[in-house]
Amino acid sequence: MNILIVGAGGREHALAWKISQSPLLDKLFIAPGNGGTALLGTNVPLKDNDIEGIVAFARDNQIGLVVAGPELPLVLGLNEALKAVNIPCFGPCTFDAQLEGSKAFAKNMMRETGVPTADFQVFDSHERALEYVRGHALPMVIKADGLAAGKGVVIAQSMDEAEEALRDMMVTQVFGEAGQTVVVEEALIGEEASFMAFCDGTTIVPMPSLQDHKRIGDDDTGLNTGGMGAYSPAPILPQERYQAMADLAIRPITQHLASIGQPFKGVLYAGLMMTAQGPMILEYNVRFGDPECQPLMARLKSDLVEIMLACVNGTLAPEQVEFHAETSCCVVMAALGYPQSYPKGMAICGIEDAEQIESVKVFQAGTQLQDGVPVSSGGRVLGVTALGVDLLQARERAYLAVDKIHFENSYYRKDIANKGLRRS
Ligand code: AMP
Ligand code: GLY
Repeated sequence: MNILIVGAGGREHALAWKISQSPLLDKLFIAPGNGGTALLGTNVPLKDNDIEGIVAFARDNQIGLVVAGPELPLVLGLNEALKAVNIPCFGPCTFDAQLEGSKAFAKNMMRETGVPTADFQVFDSHERALEYVRGHALPMVIKADGLAAGKGVVIAQSMDEAEEALRDMMVTQVFGEAGQTVVVEEALIGEEASFMAFCDGTTIVPMPSLQDHKRIGDDDTGLNTGGMGAYSPAPILPQERYQAMADLAIRPITQHLASIGQPFKGVLYAGLMMTAQGPMILEYNVRFGDPECQPLMARLKSDLVEIMLACVNGTLAPEQVEFHAETSCCVVMAALGYPQSYPKGMAICGIEDAEQIESVKVFQAGTQLQDGVPVSSGGRVLGVTALGVDLLQARERAYLAVDKIHFENSYYRKDIANKGLRRS
């Protein structure tokens, strides 16, 4: 069948790489794609928010499966728009996508279904929110309800910071409509982990755990980013606990959604905080994490297309989802200045040399091909990913590969996987 992947990041290159290995694939298209996906299929100049354009393209090109990389098209109704023309979509319906599109929706559903999460209140009045915040102990976490490109969460250490966050979101409306409603919640302390499961509406199959590195600087300092590196498995969440974690963080939600006639089909991602009191769920995403998808695809043994079709058709079985026992590690190479302003257009060399190292795969994120040469076009440029017998070897290979790659003003964290190594 012909398959269309929507999205343009390292996640989408990793999905394209895995999908292109499937015997079920005929032609692969990626909208809009990047320099990496251009080597595996045909990039189509359509943005991820252009639902009409995506549907028209899918119809005109006999697409048998559309795979949604990011959340935005799902929140905007891609699943239903494709359903109207009988094209299956890997990724949930708009109702279920609110788990990521609205933090208030997600928190309320967690409360309703008994999923452990930080205590919270939802406000759509600035005065009420201010009054509540003034009456509570610090630190306190203030979150814009809607999608805010990863910038809508403030961990306020002082009352001034808390008041400023509320003013920015609710009065100045720096995130537009996304900040008209806010969630104010208790601050949790612990180590974070990423946990994802394939879902077909009823059956859920957990994937190996991962740990992301959200801050820009070593030792988790500086601004929040989309993620600067990830590895799998995360020793803080070992394999023997996957089923229990699925029962705690995923099943209550999928069962509830099925019971109200909105079965969840796709990947459900739970962002976890492993606290001294046990795991707490910080947030849900309705798609693969990025960069998490890159080290995950490096470990996936089974045919991804078969799994995705089973999710869509409601026929998912645990035997269909097998992962290699090896450990994987991904180091993101970014443009210096990310996540604020950064230069673009830097020519990248050394990817082929890097891939000569055993078990290394370089996924491209913010890149474009110019005359056959990859050139940077975004903040996160590459995801240098390696497998190893253990985390030490996977990390060593990933950093050896990073050393082979050059572009002007490149930046990467030097401490990816350190936390995991301390625990393993
Ligand atoms: P979210 O988008 O809700 O996952 O929040 C983004 C990041 O903010 C998370 O990855 C955590 O690092 C941090 N965060 C969110 N909620 C809390 C909380 N209740 N306590 C401490 N940190 C949090
Ligand atoms: N890496 C975190 C995310 O994809 O949201």
